[in-house]
Amino acid sequence: MTDPFQDVDSAGPEFIKMFADSMDERQSDPKMEEIVASYLATLRLSENSTVIEVGAGAGAVTRRIAAHSHPSKVIGFEPSKGFVAEAKVRGNGYSNLEFIVADGASLPVDDGSVDAVIMHTVLTHVENPKELVAEAFRVLKSGGSLIVCDVDFSKATFSAFPNDPLDMCAKEFVREFVTDPFIVAKLRSLISDVGFSITEFGVESRVVTNPEQMLPWVDVTSQQMYERGDIGKELANALVAEHHRRAQNGSLYGYQAIATAIARKPN
Ligand SMILES: C[S@@+](CC[C@H](N)C(=O)[O-])C[C@H]1O[C@@H](n2cnc3c(N)ncnc32)[C@H](O)[C@@H]1O
Repeated sequence: MTDPFQDVDSAGPEFIKMFADSMDERQSDPKMEEIVASYLATLRLSENSTVIEVGAGAGAVTRRIAAHSHPSKVIGFEPSKGFVAEAKVRGNGYSNLEFIVADGASLPVDDGSVDAVIMHTVLTHVENPKELVAEAFRVLKSGGSLIVCDVDFSKATFSAFPNDPLDMCAKEFVREFVTDPFIVAKLRSLISDVGFSITEFGVESRVVTNPEQMLPWVDVTSQQMYERGDIGKELANALVAEHHRRAQNGSLYGYQAIATAIARKPN
């Protein structure tokens, strides 16, 4: 299967609703709030500034950007009409926020007109990330900021011991829902090759211990392995039951490495 995040509308309304909720849930994790707050704190904005998020999804991060940047204008660009519809409902009430359907490789934005571009867990889902980074370079003003935050899915695990069967779900998620699990390792050269100067690059750990955040990974992936015919219904049910067992005894452990790169378009 191709990563459904490459074409969310084809994945259907159930997928859109589930992942809109799941991205809201992920962003409410204190570690994710800390990561986003910390990169937003590097922005130097005035009341006339414009900040855009490329690949805004249902707006979980865009709403944080709007709250932080007010009264600067914030636009979330997102190729999925379904996600944009969700984003508009969820972002109702933010006076400086709008959402527009657009692909990150071709933004309806003038050259050199934007103060900051943010891409949050997007480049790991695209076939040609360089096109999005080059488009960010085009629309940014000289001196403007690019912020790329992405998961290093090559390091994602649910393993609590050697050969932990629950880790199958983490590996399956990366196989079916991610386009390039190694994007983080390539990020610095990708960004500097386009002409940006990197000012910060770092990787932080996020540990997921909460069943609301981990269950979709286990539920959806075990169902998928079953539907593909790789495992039987009994094993699919057993993986979900194992998740519930660990949720009850407090031993859930999911690990993600999350990178942030901050770069500047030279004057
Ligand atoms: C995992 S979601 C992240 C959404 C949002 N940034 C967040 O963190 O809540 C990945 C997003 O990238 C979008 N995406 C995929 N291909 C894209 C492209 N070529 N240009 C812009 N966005 C794209 C998807 O539609 C999806 O909304």
